[in-house]
Amino acid sequence: MENLFRLASSPNKMENLFRLASSPNKMENLFRLADHEDFISRRCIWVNGPVIIGAGPSGLATAACLREQGVPFLVVERADCIASLWQRRTYDRLKLNLPKQFCQLPNLPFPDDFPEYPSKKQFINYLETYANKFEIKPQFNQCVQSAKYDETSGLWRVKTNEVEYICRWLVVATGENAECVIPEIEGLSEFKGKVVHACDYKSGENFKGKKVLVVGCGNSGLDISLDLSNHHALPSMVVRSSVHVLPSMGPLQLKNTEGKIPVLNIGTLEKIRSGDIKVVPGIKKFNKNGEVQLVNGEKIDVDAVVLATGYRSNVPSWLQEGEFFSKNGYPKMPFPHGWKGNSGLYAVGFTKIGLFGASYDAVKIAQDIGNVWKHETKQKKQRYGAVKIAQDIGNVWKHETKQKKQRLS
Ligand SMILES: Cc1cc2nc3c(=O)[nH]c(=O)nc-3n(C[C@H](O)[C@H](O)[C@H](O)COP(=O)(O)OP(=O)(O)OC[C@H]3O[C@@H](n4cnc5c(N)ncnc54)[C@H](O)[C@@H]3O)c2cc1C
Ligand SMILES: NC(=O)c1ccc[n+]([C@@H]2O[C@H](COP(=O)([O-])OP(=O)(O)OC[C@H]3O[C@@H](n4cnc5c(N)ncnc54)[C@H](OP(=O)(O)O)[C@@H]3O)[C@@H](O)[C@H]2O)c1
Repeated sequence: MENLFRLASSPNKMENLFRLASSPNKMENLFRLADHEDFISRRCIWVNGPVIIGAGPSGLATAACLREQGVPFLVVERADCIASLWQRRTYDRLKLNLPKQFCQLPNLPFPDDFPEYPSKKQFINYLETYANKFEIKPQFNQCVQSAKYDETSGLWRVKTNEVEYICRWLVVATGENAECVIPEIEGLSEFKGKVVHACDYKSGENFKGKKVLVVGCGNSGLDISLDLSNHHALPSMVVRSSVHVLPSMGPLQLKNTEGKIPVLNIGTLEKIRSGDIKVVPGIKKFNKNGEVQLVNGEKIDVDAVVLATGYRSNVPSWLQEGEFFSKNGYPKMPFPHGWKGNSGLYAVGFTKIGLFGASYDAVKIAQDIGNVWKHETKQKKQRYGAVKIAQDIGNVWKHETKQKKQRLS
C-alpha cells in the first residue's frame, strides 16, 4: 500500500495510475501488483489492449489486423525502426525468395508494378507504407527484458529497460531470426583475418581478390557466395551436411514436410558447376598460421570468413513461461497450431514458412482478441445503459419524494 502511495505521489507516475484505475481490470489488480518492489523502480504503464513485442513484419501484420478489429494495441521494438532485420541486418542483393503473393501482409497487396520477387528495398518501402496506413507507431529503443504472467491479477507484466507495461494480452513477434548463431570452431577466435556474421555482411565489394570462406549453405550462404564471386572475390562454401536444392513441389510444401529450407538460388548452382564457387566439407579447426583444416584432412588458406550459420529465437531469454514455448524459442505446436497459448499469450511468425505463415498467425490472433474485445465492449455498453436508466429513474424518484415531503410539511 505504501508503495502505491509513493507511486501516486510521483507526478509522472500519477498519470499511469489513472490509466490503470480507469481500465476494465479493476483497481484491486493494481493494489496486488503494487506489492512488488520492481513496480516502482520502473515507470509503469497500463496498456488497454495487447502488447506486441517486435515491429517486424509479424508484429506489423498483427497490429494492422487488430486495427481493423477496432482493438487498441501497443508495439514495443528494441531497434529504432520498423523491420530492423530487413533494414539493418541483411545484405544489399537480398530479394524475397517466394513469389510476391506469398509475401504480402494482410489487407494491403503489393503495388502492381512490383516484380514477382520484390527487392529488399521494395519490401522495406512496402512495410513503411503498411505501418503508415494502419497508423502503427511502435515504442522504439525498448528491448523487452522479461515478461511474466501474474496469476493473482490475471495480467502480463512486460519489462523493458525503462518501463513496465501491464496488459491482458501479450503477442510475441520477436521472430525466428532474433539473434545470430556463431558456432564454436577451434582456433576461430585467434584467426587474424576479417570474420563477419551474415547479418553484418552488406556486399562483396570490400572482398575483391580475397579468398573468403563462407560457412553454411542455407539461403544466406548461397547468396553471399554468389555475391562474393560477382565482386571478383574467391569464395569457398562450407557444406557440412546437404543442400536442399530445387524442390519439384512448391517451396512452402518442402518446408512443411521436411523442416528444411529449400534453396532456390540457380545463379549459385551455376557458379558451383563452373568452379567459381568452391564447395568444401566441414571445418576441423583454424590453424595458427591462418590455414583452415577441413574434416577430410585438406588444408586451405583463407583471408576472411563469413559465418552464414543462421539465426535463433531469443524468446527463452526473456519470456518466463514453459507451457506454450519450448526451450528452442518456438511454440511447441507446429504451424498452423502455434499461434495461441494460455492466459492471453500469442505467438506470430514462428511457423518456419516465412511471411506467409506470419500473415496467417496475425489474422488468427486479431480475430481471437477482437472477439473478446467486441463482446466485452458490448457488455460494457449494456451495463452503462442500465446504469443511466437507473440514474434517470432515481433522479425523478428523489425529486418527487422531496416534493412530496415538502408538501406534507
Ligand atoms: C536474410 C534473411 C532473408 C529472409 N528472406 C525471407 C523471404 O524472402 N521470405 C520470407 O518469407 N521470409 C524471409 N526471411 C525470414 C524472416 O524471418 C521473415 O521474412 C520476417 O522478417 C519475419 O518477420 P518477424 O516479424 O517474425 O521477425 P523479424 O523481422 O525478425 O522482426 C522481429 C522484430 O522483433 C524485435 N525484437 C527482437 N527481440 C526483441 C525484444 N526482446 N524486445 C523488443 N523487440 C525485439 C527485432 O528487433 C525485430 O525488429 C528471411 C530472413 C533472413 C534472415
Ligand atoms: N530471401 C532470401 O533469398 C533469403 C536469403 C537468406 C536467408 N533467407 C532466410 O533466412 C533464414 C535464415 O537462413 P540462413 O541461410 O541465414 O540460415 P540457415 O538456413 O539456418 O542455414 C545455416 C547454415 O549454416 C550451417 N552451419 C551452421 N553451423 C555450422 C558449422 N559450425 N559448420 C558448418 N556449417 C554450419 C548449417 O548447416 P546444417 O544444415 O548442417 O546445420 C546451414 O547450412 C531462412 O528462413 C532463409 O530462408 C532468405
